[in-house]
Amino acid sequence: MDAFEYKNKTLFCEDVKIEDIVSEVGTPAYIYSKNTILARYNELRTAFQDVDALICFSVKSNSNLSICKTLADAGSGFDVVSGGELFRARRAGGVPSKIVFAGVGKTDKEIRYALENDIFMFNVESASELEHINILAGELGKRPKVALRINPDIDAKTHAKTTTGKKENKFGIDFTEAENIVRRKSGYPHINLCGFHVHLGSPIYTVDPYASALKKMLPFIRKCRDMDCIVEYMNVGGGYCISYTGEEVIRPGDYASKIVPFIKEVQCKLILEPGRFIVGNTGILITRVTYKKETVHGRKFVICDAAMNDLIRPALYDAFHRIWPVTTNIKMADVEKPGESTVRRGMDTFDIVGPVCESSDVFAKDRPLPKVKEGDLLAIMTAGAYGFTMSSSYNTRPRACEVLVDGNTYRVVRNRETYEDLIRGEHV
Ligand SMILES: Cc1ncc(COP(=O)(O)O)c(C=O)c1O
Repeated sequence: MDAFEYKNKTLFCEDVKIEDIVSEVGTPAYIYSKNTILARYNELRTAFQDVDALICFSVKSNSNLSICKTLADAGSGFDVVSGGELFRARRAGGVPSKIVFAGVGKTDKEIRYALENDIFMFNVESASELEHINILAGELGKRPKVALRINPDIDAKTHAKTTTGKKENKFGIDFTEAENIVRRKSGYPHINLCGFHVHLGSPIYTVDPYASALKKMLPFIRKCRDMDCIVEYMNVGGGYCISYTGEEVIRPGDYASKIVPFIKEVQCKLILEPGRFIVGNTGILITRVTYKKETVHGRKFVICDAAMNDLIRPALYDAFHRIWPVTTNIKMADVEKPGESTVRRGMDTFDIVGPVCESSDVFAKDRPLPKVKEGDLLAIMTAGAYGFTMSSSYNTRPRACEVLVDGNTYRVVRNRETYEDLIRGEHV
């Protein structure tokens, strides 16, 4: 969390005091660091500089227009999975020739929209989808580039709900079916089949799954080339990990050490689709303690004004996020792991929950925390990826505002929703 540092016992984002931002914009609020986003993007670029690599930021991880624009201005492409994400990427200044489109259920409307926008490439996930693209491209007089998304049946050793490369998952095409498609490629005259795509899941904490998948891809690519298929691109997806606990985790250079030699061997251009790595640790969610309560059974609750509708990862994936007061005399432990007690003097253990009417509306259970009082601010760390983008207005709660910090300045890059926003488009 290098963008977020305590100075004189209060949390800063870059050179701006979190308390100053919140006194203007209120809570809950997502706060992002522009310069750390750029640093992460550049770290990835540097790690893969030995090969011809296109970085396509995964819009689903954080689709705020201002963040996408920051990355577009830095030269990033975009990985989109819906017509809406394509619309966002374009609005943010994304160049169509750097936009790739994945997803198992692209509708004809979305395919046509992507064709009209002349995107760089479709990552195709079934033979039926390929048929649709072929017909629609023919109607529009186009011949789009296509990569077949391969499901290599590799266990990425991540959460079951974020694993995408095993044979039981809905994603991608198995090797046998992909080979059949390559054999029949002349039957798709409006398709330029020129590469393959693999995305195994997220977050992936070792390079082994990538290495295993690429090892399976190698003979397959050779076989396809023997069938006169020009394999110009290899897209290795995203999934690059970040630390949620403060522990050291592997960095882009570690992934590159396995991926780059493979790319050189198969002589392909590389496409990467990072999301979490670029924005995860560059954003936090700030919430205010509304109430504290203790039951006769001795459970102590801190009830916040943010809830599962703002950040659903703990409820959905049992995800661990570090949580610490914005202003405190007690230093946050360097490393904090799920289930590990780090209670020190002046601290207590709480369940940190939101106000939503669901028992799963819990950010942390039995979490050691400095003693806080009602009205205090808490920072929920590592919330920049799959935070706001997965938020909803469940319980008719207006969604949080988003703020982007740049050095010693900041600006609201998405307004807090109003009650009127919540009913816009509805009719009585
Ligand atoms: C096809 C595809 N590419 C890239 C990503 C980005 O993953 P991450 O944010 O872990 O890098 C995802 C995430 O689900 C994905 O489905």
